[in-house]
This record gives sequence, C-alpha cells and structure tokens, in this order.
Amino acid sequence: MQESRDIDSDVPKFSSDTPRAAVRVARAAGRAIIPAPARSRFPHEQTTYQPCEFSDLALWRYGVGDYEPLLKERLAKPRDSYERAAVDRALAIGIDLAVSGMRRGAAILDVGCGAGTISRLLAETGYHVTGVDQDIVAGAQEWQNREALARNRKQMEGAACRLFTADVVEFLENTNEVFDVALLLSVLHHFLHGYGYSGAGEIAPDRFDALLKSLCSRVRSYLYVEAPGSDEFEEMPPDPTGRFRFPAYFLEAGLGTDVHFIAASVATNGKPRRLYRVDLK
Ligand SMILES: C[S@@+](CC[C@H](N)C(=O)[O-])C[C@H]1O[C@@H](n2cnc3c(N)ncnc32)[C@H](O)[C@@H]1O
Repeated sequence: MQESRDIDSDVPKFSSDTPRAAVRVARAAGRAIIPAPARSRFPHEQTTYQPCEFSDLALWRYGVGDYEPLLKERLAKPRDSYERAAVDRALAIGIDLAVSGMRRGAAILDVGCGAGTISRLLAETGYHVTGVDQDIVAGAQEWQNREALARNRKQMEGAACRLFTADVVEFLENTNEVFDVALLLSVLHHFLHGYGYSGAGEIAPDRFDALLKSLCSRVRSYLYVEAPGSDEFEEMPPDPTGRFRFPAYFLEAGLGTDVHFIAASVATNGKPRRLYRVDLK
C-alpha cells in the first residue's frame, strides 16, 4: 500500500495508484482521506482543455461506480479527437449531474446529437437519453455523409438510448414528452445563420426565440449549453444584435435562474468552447 504520512499530521495521504481496497480500509477505520495530488493517467492530455485531475478527483470521491463506461472510453486510445472531445464532455456532464443530485433514470434530450456518442455514454451511466439530429451537417460539410451518420446512430442506440433523425422543431411538435435535462452542445450558434454560418438550416430570430422557449417549457431542471467564446463571435459574428448571447440569453429571456460554468473544452473544429449548466425556472 502506498501510504505516506505528513510529519505533523496523522491523516494518511494516498497516491493516485493506491489500491481502492486501501481507501475502503481507511474509510472503515474512520480515518479522513486526503487525495494526494493525482498523477495524470490520460494519454493524450493536450487534446482538450479538460483538466486531467478532474477525473482522478471524481474517482477518489465517488469511486468508479457508474462512470466505468465513460472512464474506460476515455482511457482507451481515442479513435480521433472528435471521439475524445465527446467523451470529455459526457464525463463532465455525467459528474455534474451526479453532484447536483439528478436521479438515475432521468430523461435527457440531446439536441443535435450528431452520431450519438454523448447520448450513448450518458445512457450507459444510467440516464434515459433521446437524441435528435437532422444531419444538416452532412449538407454543409462535404466530408460528412448522411448514410454513415444514420448508420453510426443505429449502432449507438440501445434500450436507454433512442436516436432520431429529425429536425428538433418538428420533433418537439410531434411529441408531448417532457425531459429533465436537455443538451445543447455546440448547436445553438448554428441556428441563426445556418450550419457553420453556411445558411443550411437557418432559422429566423423570432422562430429561434420561440423554439428555445418551447424547448425550455419541456425541460424540468437543466440545460447543458456549450457555446463558442467571444473569439469566435468576433471572427464570424452569428448575432450582431446580441439578442442570442449564450448562455446569458436564458437568463435575459426569463427562462433560467442561474448559470454555472462546468468545463472548458474544445469543439470538434478545434475552437475553444465553454460548457455551462443553466438551471431552469
Ligand atoms: C457542431 S454539431 C454538434 C454535435 C454534437 N452535439 C457534439 O457536440 O458533438 C451540430 C449538430 O446539430 C445538428 N443540427 C443543427 N440544426 C438542427 C436542427 N434544426 N434539428 C436537429 N439537429 C440540428 C447538426 O446536424 C449537427 O449534427
């Protein structure tokens, strides 16, 4: 057991490779446990801004438990940076949901779920996830392919993970379902001027406003919103009027009560992104 003691303290410290059994023994003996500064175990640290210690700290405090699928995926050699970014964000959201006391089995709507990686990972940690994507991306980016995206989504589906190829507006109009949480990960800035500011799937400001209000009326607790930083706004201003600044929009529109910064990450296009939780009214 790699246990060390401070000279002037009787509190044991444990290094990141201390066997979990040793931690359990210390807990059973009623001894306080202070995690030693964690050594990173993640092979591609530079891929995202997600602090590596985040996961180690979560491991220390909560154990592997339900996060095993996420951590396994994260530790595996990532297939590509898209996958890695998805795993990081799913992990940040999964842990934030647990810390905020969200019940297992809660219903999550993943708006613009893409190939469904994040939906599947959250379903594996115990939530019921519904993903919706219209594959606008396939029309706007030549290297994307509608059939491949649909095939990928099919592979990601499971009992707790339903993935639909649909426009989110039509999806919401055609169901009465209410969700506990909605994910808006790198999607909101694509609406006003179309995907990648290309005009594909463009939605007029008043309709966009109505869509967001209708979405919030169908979500009980939280939105997770990942939005570009001001650097990207300056590069390609998606909303020169400033009406749709995310996540501030949700407070200004009276839809949310609070915004919490959850993590800094990187979008699949390599641009910096911030991930926030919006507490809904
Ligand atoms: C940049 S991707 C983000 C994918 C995923 N959320 C992620 O973070 O990895 C934006 C996605 O939103 C989808 N999308 C855009 N407008 C949509 C709409 N009206 N209904 C459904 N999906 C839409 C696009 O097809 C695309 O897959």
